[in-house]
Amino acid sequence: MEQLAEEYAAWWIDFLGEHNHIGGEGATRWLLERSGLSAGKRMLDCGAFVGGAARLAVRETGCAAVAIDLNHDFLETGRAMEDGPNVGWVTGDTSRLPFRDDTFDSIWALDTYIGMREFSRVARRGATLCLCCEVPVDGRGGVEAFIDEWREYGWEMAAHKEMSNDATNTWRKAEADLVRQRPHYEERYGTRPYLGQLDMLYAMVQSYERHEQGHGLFVFKRAL
Ligand SMILES: C[S@@+](CC[C@H](N)C(=O)[O-])C[C@H]1O[C@@H](n2cnc3c(N)ncnc32)[C@H](O)[C@@H]1O
Repeated sequence: MEQLAEEYAAWWIDFLGEHNHIGGEGATRWLLERSGLSAGKRMLDCGAFVGGAARLAVRETGCAAVAIDLNHDFLETGRAMEDGPNVGWVTGDTSRLPFRDDTFDSIWALDTYIGMREFSRVARRGATLCLCCEVPVDGRGGVEAFIDEWREYGWEMAAHKEMSNDATNTWRKAEADLVRQRPHYEERYGTRPYLGQLDMLYAMVQSYERHEQGHGLFVFKRAL
């Protein structure tokens, strides 16, 4: 993990842990319960990091899972963790998925790049889409525009959980941790990245407090 953190520019690994998204393992489990996954089904964990979601899904449902991420080191670490050998690990870019059409029963993207067209291409009929993501909530059309866009690709929303408070609290806590541990972070990453990261967290907290952004869990379902 130490080696990973050295290469993980956004440092979320320092703040969020193995389930590297807002809401952590609780959010993963909320989605898993609604994913329709079971033995014989195939799950794709996009931007998987160490595959926290993929490994949990395999363990709890008996499904088959593939974890894909840009960063090979994250995947290697995931492979060595609990249930790692039971997951397929693919280094690649989720904006160009290296899979055939109609391959997966559940596509996951938790706080990572979302590719509507590619996710839709590799999803089977009746598939679910499990997302943890930021959506605008201000004058840019808000969450309704996001849901409408998925509808254009054949997905209907099946469940939604508002996570904005969790997100605000997470970024606030991360900001406080960053300030509290300044010597540690400066030594580890250097002064400029430290200050850049602090500015970014500050901007994030501000945007949440101004209600320009909201964070949410979404489950979409594709028609049979
Ligand atoms: C905040 S982490 C979330 C990790 C994981 N989904 C989880 O919830 O634990 C974002 C991850 O997305 C990966 N990522 C970002 N853009 C990507 C892309 N276009 N293709 C594949 N992976 C990507 C990063 O390498 C990183 O591991």
